[in-house]
Amino acid sequence: LNIAMLFGGNSSEHDVSKRSAHNIYDAMDKEKYNVTVFLISKDGIMINAEDSWRVFEGEDEDEIVAAAKEKMDLSNPLAPIAVLGEMANIDFFYPVVHGNLGEDGTLQALFRLLKKPYLGPGIAASAMSFDKDLTKRILNQAGVRNTNYVLLTDQNYQDYTYDELVKELDSEVLFVKAASQGSSVGVSRVTNEDEYKAALKDSFQYDYKILVEGALDKPREVFISILGNENPRASRLGGIVLPEEDVWYDYNNKFVDASGMVFELPVELDQALTDEITDMALRAYKALGLVGLTRMDFMIDKNGVPYLGEPNTLPGFTNISLYPQMWEVSGISYTHLIDELIAYGIA
Ligand code: DAL
Ligand code: MG
Repeated sequence: LNIAMLFGGNSSEHDVSKRSAHNIYDAMDKEKYNVTVFLISKDGIMINAEDSWRVFEGEDEDEIVAAAKEKMDLSNPLAPIAVLGEMANIDFFYPVVHGNLGEDGTLQALFRLLKKPYLGPGIAASAMSFDKDLTKRILNQAGVRNTNYVLLTDQNYQDYTYDELVKELDSEVLFVKAASQGSSVGVSRVTNEDEYKAALKDSFQYDYKILVEGALDKPREVFISILGNENPRASRLGGIVLPEEDVWYDYNNKFVDASGMVFELPVELDQALTDEITDMALRAYKALGLVGLTRMDFMIDKNGVPYLGEPNTLPGFTNISLYPQMWEVSGISYTHLIDELIAYGIA
């Protein structure tokens, strides 16, 4: 099977993607798969296979991309996808591109146009799962518990002050989130008007839609991996224990310095709560129309009530990412997991 693995991407998660791609590539069975890697540059240009491989192997990305772009006709509006000509004999696309223009339905639409099978959820499911506002609308319709929120846009945000939001959401600690981002980029935890204003400014860099949510009181964060198409399976739960009260699982703690985090694999909760979380995750998976894979992130409040935080349709596969680790503790090895994911993409 000739596989094109796309990595990098025009999103704030470019570097996370590079780390995920390495792990996936290393775990793939090379007897079965003939893998060609294609880098998507930070500014969204697909780079030829030869230069992509050099970046993959650790050569300086900025230099190689700059040189590759010099050889391209960037005035051609098709320049970002000009390299598609190198993909004529590709049988299967493996997107390892987190975030915007990768996880949000965009690449999936390209694969559909090319009439090729690909790994992971389709266009609509990817788009709905990446936009936190759309996700919540679907979850609410399906009766899957999630936190209340106020939707702000660049048109109406001046209608609310921090104090009004505190009242409406019944919490002094608020999370301000760009609707469409991953890895907690564009997310801030705020406790006063000044922080709130700064958070708005940050989030609006990423999207015109912003969600403001009330923070749960000392929530416990747990995660579950879902795998499959019509009859998806759920893994055991994984979790993190945060070192102190005001720390949250942000980009830094996820990908820059995770040393303060304690991972729990698997998490042992009582059976009823485990069953409830598993059921919520599977119902959300179906309601959103997901196939292939998704990691669902949950928060459990101090009364033991679980809330679905968000789905991640192309979750991280870095050394400290939980999706593959949760399958390992559930009895599926990394290499076998990739075989299954490819098979689900072809099915
Ligand atoms: N968005 C990152 C990659 C994750 O959810 O794992
Ligand atoms: Mg996410």
